Amino acid sequence: TDRLVVAVDGPSGSGKSSVSREAARRLGAAYLDTGAMYRAVTLACLDAGLDLTDQDAVAAFIPGSEVTVSTDPAQPQVVRIAGREVTEAIREPFVSERVSAVATNPRAREILVGLQRDVIASHRRIVAEGRDITTVVAPDADARVLLTASEEARLRRRGLQLGGTQSEESLAAQVTGRDRKDSALVNFTTAADGVVTLDSSDLDFEQTIQALLDIVAAAV
Ligand code: C5P
Repeated sequence: TDRLVVAVDGPSGSGKSSVSREAARRLGAAYLDTGAMYRAVTLACLDAGLDLTDQDAVAAFIPGSEVTVSTDPAQPQVVRIAGREVTEAIREPFVSERVSAVATNPRAREILVGLQRDVIASHRRIVAEGRDITTVVAPDADARVLLTASEEARLRRRGLQLGGTQSEESLAAQVTGRDRKDSALVNFTTAADGVVTLDSSDLDFEQTIQALLDIVAAAV
């Protein structure tokens, strides 16, 4: 069998989404962006008028919220809430600033981890990325990678991604501010046992993909 599960974790701005997606495409694998699930659930709760600090209400809401993320790396990612497309809406700062309320909810995490494991199990080959894939969601993955980059490199990339229109302060608040909140939940800054660290600070996109594919090839 050529079943393959690749787990990739990393901080925001590390390039893990674009790198994982392109690696998935080249590996003939599906691609799961677990951050998109946290974002979509956050938006769904806000749309439903839920108080995000009400942890029980948020957790109870998730199973019926019908959040779906597309997993074909060759197609633009599509995220839906009960059939309604929210692909772009979940990237708004309004959502980014509030997603940690869901990510810090232990019961919500448990439910999302379960849904993510279902997605992984339903694909023969898949690359899944997030913050806790190598440690919690798929600790038994064939290849486990922590994609890191210096703070400087991450700020530069996120700035380019946002069109170079943001001030340095605003970028730093978005990138390092969210990382600080996120690192309270899961440790994605140091590699767990058996997880390979890939530092992309001095690598371009193609070099980073090649390095990731080399790690996968060495592991399987
Ligand atoms: O990857 P992305 O930046 O889109 O993730 C959005 C947010 O979802 C993160 O800031 C984090 O709070 C949460 N998240 C998480 N665990 C994951 C993926 C994302 O807590 N596996």
